[in-house]
Parts: sequence; C-alpha cells; structure tokens
Amino acid sequence: MSGCRSTAAQHSPPPFPLPPNDLGFGVGLRTPHLRYVLAHRPPVDWFEAISENFMDSGGFPRHALDRIAERHPVVLHGVSLSIGSTDPLDFDYLRRLRRLADGIGARWVSDHICWTGVAGLNTHDLLPVPFTEESLAHMVRRVRAVQEFLERPLVLENPSSYAEFTGSVMSEWEFVSRLAAESGCGLLLDVNNVYVSSVNHGFDPEEYVRALPHERVVQIHLAGHTHLGTHIVDTHDRPVADPVWRLYELAVSLTGPVATLLEWDDRIPPFPELLAELAKARRYAGAARVLCG
Ligand SMILES: [Fe+2]
Repeated sequence: MSGCRSTAAQHSPPPFPLPPNDLGFGVGLRTPHLRYVLAHRPPVDWFEAISENFMDSGGFPRHALDRIAERHPVVLHGVSLSIGSTDPLDFDYLRRLRRLADGIGARWVSDHICWTGVAGLNTHDLLPVPFTEESLAHMVRRVRAVQEFLERPLVLENPSSYAEFTGSVMSEWEFVSRLAAESGCGLLLDVNNVYVSSVNHGFDPEEYVRALPHERVVQIHLAGHTHLGTHIVDTHDRPVADPVWRLYELAVSLTGPVATLLEWDDRIPPFPELLAELAKARRYAGAARVLCG
C-alpha cells in the first residue's frame, strides 16, 4: 500500500489479502446509462454494479455488464447480504453472488454494515446495528464465514443512519475499525454517509475518518444528500455537498490514492454530468495528494 497509509495499526494477518485499490475514479453503473456506456466508451476508470440487479437477470442488462467488464475493471456492490441480521446466512444468495463475481471477474465484492430484515423478511432498508461486543462478535463470525465461502475478502461499507441504539457501548468508528481488524474484511468508506450520520447523531465526522484503519480502506464512495435543516436524508439525487468534498480530501490524505466511486441513484442525470462530478473528485484527490506528499 502506498501514499499516506498508516502503519500504526498492525493486526493479525487477515484470511485473504485485500485487493489492489488503485482503480482510479469510477461511477455506479445504472440501467439508464447502459446503452450510453456501451456506445460511447466514456473516460471512466472503472464501474461498480449493484449485485442484485444482475445476479438473476440475463437479457440486455447482463449482456451490457459482460461487455463493460471486458473493457473496464468492475466491482460488485450488494444490498441484501444482511451481515448484521440474526437470520442464518443465505448461502443460496452467496452462491449466486459468487457465480456473478466469477463470471465478470469482479475486482471485489462489497456490501453494508447493516441488517436488512429478520425472520426471512427483507425490508429493503439498510438498518443500523447496535455497537456492542455481542453484535461485533456476531458480525465477525459471519464475515469470516462469507469470506471463506466466497474465497475472497469481503469489503464492507459504513451506512448512513437515522437512529441509534441506546445499548451501544462504542462509537461507530470503533466498531467499524474492530470489525475490519478482527474479521480481515476491507472497508468501503462512504464519506457522504459519515457526514450524513455525523449531522443526524451529532458527532465529529473528521474524528471518524481519522480513527479508521486507513490501510484497510479499499474504496471510497461519494454521493449527494438532502439537508432538511434538522437532519439529512441520504438521497443520492444531486451533486456532492461541499462538506463532503472536504471530508473526501481529508480521507484521501490519510489513505493515499484509493478507488473512488460516485453514486447517483435518483433523478439520475445524463452521463456527462456524472463525468463532470468525477472530474471534481480527481481535483480534490489531487489536492489531497499534494498535502499528503
Ligand atoms: Fe455508499
């Protein structure tokens, strides 16, 4: 690992080495853009595909993903693993995920530090987990099992949240850091989610970013949000906010060059607007490296 990565945090060897994280600057692959990406070969370094959108579907979407994966690095990002749930792990889901990852040569597979349902029900929401020792041990066991089944490291993202558990005994950043150290997973640091949650719960987002094990950050997410005065909703429907850009600059100054991805999921603009936002990310990352070096 290069750049300003911390060498302070040394832990027992992870079960699988983390993948190279120098993919550059990418965007989330969304259905309205598939034909544009195929036809125009836009100057994007890599793409992130939502796992569940392609796991069971053939037809044009899978054809498009296969063609794009021939030209660009692609990673898979899931929303249904439910790693924090008390339901048993869904090995049928994992089997289909592994088949897709192998089929497109995914550089890595990610999901969220959350639970999405219980007793077989899927809420389709990324629900927060309690930051307790019991919850941590439960998730470490499950992450290890998933990694052994997939035969690759799992990369886990900090979600945005709107509620907290009164039973939590540690900060979110301590929970995330210990999860990575004890399970060997990589981290997907969503700096927009850090900012959204920092406003909703009243913590310092810079303290969060500084406290993480920067050598385990495989990827960064950027996205837009909606500030409603009393709280922020993680809408992914507009450009990245200025405080999130500043947090991104701080994060890159600590991680060194890292795969950066722009998410845009609602009111999706024409693809050239994504490229303009990606150019901004390149500028902020460049500025951060100057500070770093
Ligand atoms: Fe994200």
